[in-house]
Amino acid sequence: MSQIELDKSKQTARPDFSRDANHAATAPAFLSVHDIHAYYGESYIVQGVSFNVHEGEILALLGRNGAGKTSTLRAIAQIGSPLMTSGEVWLDHQALHLMSSHEASRAGLALVPEDRRIIPGLTVEENIQLAQIAPPIGWSVERIYELFPRLGERRKQEGVTLSGGEQQMLSIGRALARDIKVLLLDEPYEGLAPVIVDEIEKTLNIIKRQGITTILVEQNAVRALKLADRAVILESGEVVFDGTADEVLHNEQLRHDYLAI
Ligand SMILES: Nc1ncnc2c1ncn2[C@@H]1O[C@H](COP(=O)(O)OP(=O)(O)O)[C@@H](O)[C@H]1O
Ligand SMILES: [Mg+2]
Repeated sequence: MSQIELDKSKQTARPDFSRDANHAATAPAFLSVHDIHAYYGESYIVQGVSFNVHEGEILALLGRNGAGKTSTLRAIAQIGSPLMTSGEVWLDHQALHLMSSHEASRAGLALVPEDRRIIPGLTVEENIQLAQIAPPIGWSVERIYELFPRLGERRKQEGVTLSGGEQQMLSIGRALARDIKVLLLDEPYEGLAPVIVDEIEKTLNIIKRQGITTILVEQNAVRALKLADRAVILESGEVVFDGTADEVLHNEQLRHDYLAI
């Protein structure tokens, strides 16, 4: 590529860095993470991560403990820690890298962190209602209870007294209470019994059918891969694999080298 072409490509308003041959020609990326770098203070953690997510897709973001999965999600969400120093994140034509975390949330990005952040002193219903205090408002409380009947049954109970699985449902429900385009889930299955994971998995499929795009970070890689359409694997803050979930499931070497499964 000549220098002139390079300069021109830098000016493209919305880059399509898709590496997925099935989509590249037809569908531009819905969420495009391009060459992002992020630091905690002096520690260089996210080291040039790029990947694309297509609309309505579930992407499994995998890698060993400490690979940089949480940091990548936090950088995408523009939390500020780690601080994204360069790169671009585009969501449906919106430049998230130019936004605060609050603006990125209004633009349709929802991060459900590992610790779930249920607000103490509030009931289940109040936790959901609090998410709807300002626009853009998403699903109604009743629709969230249809998706998670357990939350409906416990609507008057204090949120922090729920079981781990129910708290996870509440934090996903609370994300849906806002009008979101992309759901970032950080280890939603952690510490949950397999039957509860089944339940949450079912709802993730329903959410997918509503057209919401999901990035699923999970230590339980096999479960995540069975649910996901595509997978990105991180190692030391860099992408080492980008392809279909099935490719990872059937590639023993890849699973052994990067996922220890
Ligand atoms: N707040 C922080 N300050 C400094 N280093 C951090 C901080 N959080 C995470 N790290 C480091 O960043 C690297 C990636 O961590 P993380 O993104 O949490 O990985 P993963 O989610 O894949 O387990 C690790 O080496 C971790 O020690
Ligand atoms: Mg993590």
